[in-house]
Amino acid sequence: MDKATNYQEIIDEIFSSIKAEENNGQVAQYIPELAKIDPNKFGIYLQTINNEGFSAGDWNAKFSIQSISKVLGLSLAYKILGDKIWERVGVEPTGNPFNSLIQLETDQGIPRNPLINGGAMVICDMLFSHLNNPLPDFLDFVKQIGKNDKINYSEAIAKSEKSVGYRNIALCNFIKSFGNLENNPEEVLNFYFNMCSLEMTCQELAQTFLFLADDNFRTNEDKRILSMSQAKRINAIMQTCGFYDESGEFSFKVGLPGKSGVGGGILALHPDKYCIAVWSPKLNQKGNSYRGMKFLERFTTKTESSIF
Ligand code: DON
Repeated sequence: MDKATNYQEIIDEIFSSIKAEENNGQVAQYIPELAKIDPNKFGIYLQTINNEGFSAGDWNAKFSIQSISKVLGLSLAYKILGDKIWERVGVEPTGNPFNSLIQLETDQGIPRNPLINGGAMVICDMLFSHLNNPLPDFLDFVKQIGKNDKINYSEAIAKSEKSVGYRNIALCNFIKSFGNLENNPEEVLNFYFNMCSLEMTCQELAQTFLFLADDNFRTNEDKRILSMSQAKRINAIMQTCGFYDESGEFSFKVGLPGKSGVGGGILALHPDKYCIAVWSPKLNQKGNSYRGMKFLERFTTKTESSIF
């Protein structure tokens, strides 16, 4: 049986069963604006590369995509600078939390991968050096790949995170002290906080990531974003590093490349098939959406659509 024909039925079934179960975990507390979010929000959107969409719950409500944006920053830096980016950031999983400072000391300021906070800051530094107007230019890139003019930063969230961003400020200054930052840490952090504040609905998020799932993806201007090899590498980094010290677990349970954010979003994709976005704000101990992980584990099991 072709399981693909059953996407809506399977989404509805898993959605209602998870809704009926306990909603464990805690909404991110360390960013005051994020702590205010309704913990019971729960949305799903599946976008196939054949332009079909399937949804459930709060799929059309905007939320803060947070660290999921790191993949978009990485994609733009890779597009502009090519393989040179790997001189300043690695491609190894850390086994540590996303905001850990420990390895940076032994690694001499070269973050292990671009999806932890330090790695994303180095990527932001590259973008800051190479974009004429970093924040508007990055937003234009996101709008272009998402084919969507309605995507924007949240000033309130960026400001809120900046007001309490002591650990990120420490990380960024630490990297600067090793000489792996060209620009002023304050400007890099401003770019980083804004990047993390991007807001999207589940539908917008799933559609924005199609460029990594569909080999034939073209923008409205008929442009390719990344080469096949570049897209393969970004998917590989999401597979191994997208969930920090829970990346092995996500791979084990879900079996897809993906990326989480502390706003409660998870984006996962099946190359040549689909992108799926799940949003539920309560996070587990590792900072990944409790219901999001659960949903995706059941989804790839029922649809038999993991990459493995
Ligand atoms: O820098 C931070 O802490 C947040 N702006 C992003 C962290 C995040 O989303 C980690 N994801 N699970």
